[in-house]
Amino acid sequence: MVREIPEITAAAATDLWDTYALPRRPVVVRGLFRDQPIADAATVAGARRLLGAAPVLIKEEYSRSFAGDGQAPEPELASLDDYVGRYGDEPDSGRVVTEWDVPPTLLELFTLPEFCRPQAPVHDLFLHAFLAGPGNYAHLHFDQDQRHVLLVQVFGRKRVVVFPPSASRWLHPFGNLGSVRLQGMAPAERDAFIDLAGGMQTILEPTDALFMPLLVWHFADYVDFGMSFNIRFRRNAHNRFLSADNFAGDRYVQAVSEPFGAVRVGDPLPADLAAEFARITAVHDADHPDREAKYRAMRATFRDVARQRGDGADPVYVFPLDDMDERQAMLGMRDTFRYRPDGRSSADMMVVDDRPAAGSQLRMVRDLVRRHGYPDSLFARVLANKFAKATVEELSRGEVARLVAYLQSPSGLLRAPVTV
Ligand SMILES: [Fe+2]
Repeated sequence: MVREIPEITAAAATDLWDTYALPRRPVVVRGLFRDQPIADAATVAGARRLLGAAPVLIKEEYSRSFAGDGQAPEPELASLDDYVGRYGDEPDSGRVVTEWDVPPTLLELFTLPEFCRPQAPVHDLFLHAFLAGPGNYAHLHFDQDQRHVLLVQVFGRKRVVVFPPSASRWLHPFGNLGSVRLQGMAPAERDAFIDLAGGMQTILEPTDALFMPLLVWHFADYVDFGMSFNIRFRRNAHNRFLSADNFAGDRYVQAVSEPFGAVRVGDPLPADLAAEFARITAVHDADHPDREAKYRAMRATFRDVARQRGDGADPVYVFPLDDMDERQAMLGMRDTFRYRPDGRSSADMMVVDDRPAAGSQLRMVRDLVRRHGYPDSLFARVLANKFAKATVEELSRGEVARLVAYLQSPSGLLRAPVTV
């Protein structure tokens, strides 16, 4: 039998930050959204009534396109109703909505849990929606943004398997992907493997939420046609620095970064983490002849720190993927600012820009909101759930820039464009 992820009631979730997030323990909160309007979207019929016109971008499941033959169909912008009609009941369609900026009509249906609300300027919020038919899956991976995640089930059931970062040696990682294909295993084999590698699983029902700490390995599959969304929250300044903003995520970056999630806002780092962080920033800020040299120096440092901790041990399997990791990172560097030898210093990167928004930005937001026809109450929910702010004047410059991008994107539409 596979271990189940521990469960708590909605009432007990008030202590989630101290009891589960800082100690980095996953937990299922049953019925967390049971008393909210989103509970009326707990069936396909209810979701169509409340969210049928919502825009969704239909794509190929991403590990398939990663491993595919280059023939992936183009993403299509459609409505949730279109998705239901075309793919809803189709098993294993491979056509999914994934990491889709949550549309306003969904933001209108819930209240942000207290434990997700930012406690400091460095804390930010990102929300993404997921929609797929039965048999679809999200391949085993960890998220490189280093935020905590609350995964909320809207309708249908979703099975989620999690492994702690310390399980990496069993998962034969390549970058942030596991090479182990849980979706290809027979049930008994899969259960035995999850047990062996120290994983746990759960089945989320509508209105349930799963808290996943930063950098945890996760795999999900759709038991039914289902929809969920996630809230990504409370990343501290150290994890922001160590995230994919600056470094190509691999199991060493994961192992080194994860314990920083235990540090409370305003607290100094404990001595061991402070020494490690100083070592990492010293290499980051040193002179390097070029990006490749900087990448190799950083990777060697993360690997060393992980090994000195006794973490990041070599995989149990026989294929060393380090060379592939390095080649992939080199390719990834072609279109990113990461590893620039003349880039900003780590001290500069730790500072958060929380200057207030400019007047021209605020005018642009008001103009876009009027053109979209958002009612005032809906715009208030958008501000409350995307930024935990009550008015547009409270947003920082960076937040307004994100809001403008959202309002200019298809995600921000009240209704998907009609497709013929
Ligand atoms: Fe993920």
